[in-house]
Amino acid sequence: MAVARLPLSIDHIPEEKRSIYDAEPVLSGRGMRIQWGHVVGLDGVDIDLYKGEVLAVIGDNGAGKSTLIKCLTGAYEPTGGTVYLDGQEVHFKRPQDAREAGIETVYQQLAVIPALDIASNLYLAREERRAGPLGSVFRMLDKRGMARRAGESVQNLGIQTIQNMGQAVENLSGGQRQAVAVARAAAFGSKVVVLDEPTAALGVKESGMVLDMIKQLRESGLGIILISHNMPHVWEAADRIHIQRLGGCAGVITPQSHDMGEGVAIMTGAKKLVQDQLDGAA
Ligand SMILES: Nc1ncnc2c1ncn2[C@@H]1O[C@H](COP(=O)(O)OP(=O)(O)OP(=O)(O)O)[C@@H](O)[C@H]1O
Ligand SMILES: [Mg+2]
Repeated sequence: MAVARLPLSIDHIPEEKRSIYDAEPVLSGRGMRIQWGHVVGLDGVDIDLYKGEVLAVIGDNGAGKSTLIKCLTGAYEPTGGTVYLDGQEVHFKRPQDAREAGIETVYQQLAVIPALDIASNLYLAREERRAGPLGSVFRMLDKRGMARRAGESVQNLGIQTIQNMGQAVENLSGGQRQAVAVARAAAFGSKVVVLDEPTAALGVKESGMVLDMIKQLRESGLGIILISHNMPHVWEAADRIHIQRLGGCAGVITPQSHDMGEGVAIMTGAKKLVQDQLDGAA
């Protein structure tokens, strides 16, 4: 079992949200380590994500943010460390294993297949068959149903600029592609949704919609990991903020305990996070 560890005094969590942290984390990593030859990507990182919270992960380029979530979701096999889902040790060998366990991830390098249409991309690796013998015997795909439900997912996300679900993804703009990937994660994540820079290619309106969707997912009790370089987005949406620096965790703060300037100072090493200060001892 992962030992629930809150690297932050409960005083810094708003009162109405504290009960979230009484439960055990939905997803945890302990001592996550990965190296390639002499290059150390992660040097033993701990991370906890609770149900009903948005945990932001911030850090400079190359700090190990993407590597950390890849090690948690089966895209990389870590050199060391243990991953727990609902307190049970798990060993994801590939992203599909994590998806089947209820963890949907939108990786930074987008996992859409340009030549396929939007509906097919949304249902990639989880195609639905037609009802009755047409589906069970002849393995016919329920294309019309998938297109309709894909349309609903995209509509729910409020991406009005996508007109036709039969359109190939290669003809979409970068932002629209990103929106399709986020819609897919939101539609299928049952426990955890991990978003690596989900608003990087999005305009102001679409970014706002993705943030709203993240908040809706949180309301429905999912745990969300949000990696972002956009500090206003992080301070708006996050419950807690994991600061990744040089392959390690430099600390976990909240938007209430630290302002953006302080967060960035810890991220760049200009300021050190002293845990005693957080706990009110100094
Ligand atoms: N497959 C790999 N082989 C070798 N080195 C790698 C590999 N994947 C990541 N790294 C290295 O690990 C370090 C962390 O990379 P990572 O992609 O996690 O950074 P990041 O924090 O996500 O940065 P960014 O903000 O630019 O996305 C980098 O130095 C990177 O070169
Ligand atoms: Mg990255």
